[in-house]
Amino acid sequence: MAVQYQNRQIVTIEGLGTEAALHPMQQAFIDHDGFQCGYCTPGQICSAIGLLDEVRRGIPSVLTADLKMPELAISRDEIQERMSGNICRCGAYNGIVEAVQSALSEGAA
Ligand code: FES
Repeated sequence: MAVQYQNRQIVTIEGLGTEAALHPMQQAFIDHDGFQCGYCTPGQICSAIGLLDEVRRGIPSVLTADLKMPELAISRDEIQERMSGNICRCGAYNGIVEAVQSALSEGAA
């Protein structure tokens, strides 16, 4: 609920990048056709950025096999699990996962 975030900073899609300088995750979604109609895209991109932050902080998911690994191995299945709360009625999931993989490999935050 919104009230849980009172007095906390919230960044929405409007707070990421500019037309002249997109956020790396926004660019990755364009580069990998991570959207079709765009309805879900703001939420997908913000969640993907949150995913990268979780990975950077070493937060495991239900698919994390080894909690003792110094770095999390982020597979396609892991990305799908971490993004599973986001629904895309256009079915752009393959491009979304590829965009996240790309941003992850390029160290986007
Ligand atoms: Fe249309 Fe996701 S791109 S709902």
